[in-house]
Amino acid sequence: MTKKDEKLYFSKIGQTGVDFTLNKPFSDPENLGSLLSDMAAIFSLMPKTPVEVADLGCGSGWTSNFYALAGHKVTGIDISKPAIDAANGFFKRENLTFVCSDFDKMKFRDKFDVAIFSDSLHHTDDESETLKSVYSILKPGGMIIICEPGTGHSKSVSSIEAKKIYSVTERDMPPKLSKKALKNSGFKNIKSYAHPARLHRVNYKQFSNNKKILNHTVPRTALSLAFSSFMKNNHGIVTASK
Ligand SMILES: C[S@@+](CC[C@H](N)C(=O)[O-])C[C@H]1O[C@@H](n2cnc3c(N)ncnc32)[C@H](O)[C@@H]1O
Repeated sequence: MTKKDEKLYFSKIGQTGVDFTLNKPFSDPENLGSLLSDMAAIFSLMPKTPVEVADLGCGSGWTSNFYALAGHKVTGIDISKPAIDAANGFFKRENLTFVCSDFDKMKFRDKFDVAIFSDSLHHTDDESETLKSVYSILKPGGMIIICEPGTGHSKSVSSIEAKKIYSVTERDMPPKLSKKALKNSGFKNIKSYAHPARLHRVNYKQFSNNKKILNHTVPRTALSLAFSSFMKNNHGIVTASK
């Protein structure tokens, strides 16, 4: 579980794997609704007028492209050169740039209005070190948005497989952990919100066979309410400001 393995991941997944990441969220019909619901929540939390955005751990850049489509000036940052090369070859927009860099050691200072982690902070070994680095690239008053898989992610089937095959880091990054690290790193106005992808599944996923009862409104509403408060600590989006 080293940074070397994070750098190598994209060269190990082959062209089919890279194409899958480039065409997200549409290449992943099973998770399309959940991925779009995360993006919808991030857009609702972001400033509504165009700002300068850092997309941290952007991979091959589909989320960066979404922010750019909304008019923001975006820098996608990733430690993997093959991912950045793929992003540069695929997404061409005046307001979109990709940079190969470790998010723990970024060279920018006081540059960005918003920094976003989407499914990437949980790849760090030391979230306090990473968030101190993010603090330094934000303008005073700048905002951070963290949308990560939470409690249990490290033990999921896909994480166990990714650790075994690619040796990448797959940790739990629940709001309770990122909030603590944000505080240690100097951030203020720290808030958490229930995980949109999970709320989406609870409300809209179509169950079949013996779980069909869950398709009805009453159990969905009850589950959604119960999950919302549980998720604020264990699964969710966290925001804070510099
Ligand atoms: C699960 S992928 C998520 C990619 C993209 N954000 C998405 O939502 O599809 C995690 C990404 O974090 C990147 N990453 C891991 N450690 C990093 C580091 N120290 N600095 C920058 N990027 C890193 C990996 O290369 C990978 O592209």
